[in-house]
Amino acid sequence: MLERNLVDSSPTERDLPIRPRRLRRSQSVRRLVRESRLSADMLVYPIFVATGRGVEHPIEAMPGQRRLSADLAEEAASSAFRAGVPAVLLFGSPRYKDDAATDASADDGAVQEAIRRIKRSTPEVVVFTDVCVCAYTDHGHCGIVSSGEIDNDASLDVMVGVALSHARAGADFVAPSDMMDGRVGAIREALDDNGFEQVGIMSYAAKYASAFYGPFREAADSTPQFGDRSTYQMDPPNVREALREIELDIDEGADIVMVKPALAYLDVIAAARAEFNAPIAAYNVSGEYSMVKAAAQRGWIDEQRAVDEALTAIVRAGADIVITYWAPEVAARLGGSPAR
Ligand code: PBG
Repeated sequence: MLERNLVDSSPTERDLPIRPRRLRRSQSVRRLVRESRLSADMLVYPIFVATGRGVEHPIEAMPGQRRLSADLAEEAASSAFRAGVPAVLLFGSPRYKDDAATDASADDGAVQEAIRRIKRSTPEVVVFTDVCVCAYTDHGHCGIVSSGEIDNDASLDVMVGVALSHARAGADFVAPSDMMDGRVGAIREALDDNGFEQVGIMSYAAKYASAFYGPFREAADSTPQFGDRSTYQMDPPNVREALREIELDIDEGADIVMVKPALAYLDVIAAARAEFNAPIAAYNVSGEYSMVKAAAQRGWIDEQRAVDEALTAIVRAGADIVITYWAPEVAARLGGSPAR
């Protein structure tokens, strides 16, 4: 019938029953009928913590992002919080690398110091910490290598040690990103046994072996020295497998589950949303950030509109939490307020 009206009727005879454009006529109408809203409340700001004091290294492949020593990470976290961002996600860097990732669980390590400083100066900010060893191992893999392979069960002990050191420093949530089997259960048990029942776990549950982590590896100096991560991170074509991974992590005690990257995996976010009730986080990763930055620097794309569109799409797909390097500026623009 709609077709007949449009095609066969003369303009004066047209009597369209439905005119969807009425709901798009003005900015105010559009605001009223919006189905998904990006809010500062959902944002998590990743911060790369460097060793030393007063250190601020620009990350070339991620314009606008820096590696900051603990003192400056503390300032970055509190200024993000003041802009309206409720949470940060900290990545550490080592004083030295070895095959056992020894420095990753040192209580006086850079990331542990940053956690203590942030929780002291801005206790309200939720501190998530990346639990992984790729920046701390001399081979750059996310676990312990034996006979040329990533040894799952030997890696679990190391992840538990890292998670406990973050909990001792005051982290609110640890976020294992190594993709070893059983790490959520092992970390949950160790946290509980050590009196950290209140420390939560956000698991990188469906983390894909992605080319979009490229710029991050410059930031974290964590490129594998042999092979790649495809024996532990997920194969990009798979979505049912992601649901299995998420289910396992929830069963093992994850409080929040993550899909990563975000933009090329919106279907995975949507499938996870349909299947599970746990909060879902999505990580808008370094490559997704750098692509927009690079195009914007050339004048090929409007950065602000592209960012709002991309982050809102992540929310539309079903994410509750969006991890993004744009968090402070987006929050400032959206008018986030820590007082709400
Ligand atoms: C560590 C880790 C990575 C990222 C987060 N945690 C890199 C990787 O797995 O190689 C990527 C973050 C980003 O690209 O923004 N395992």
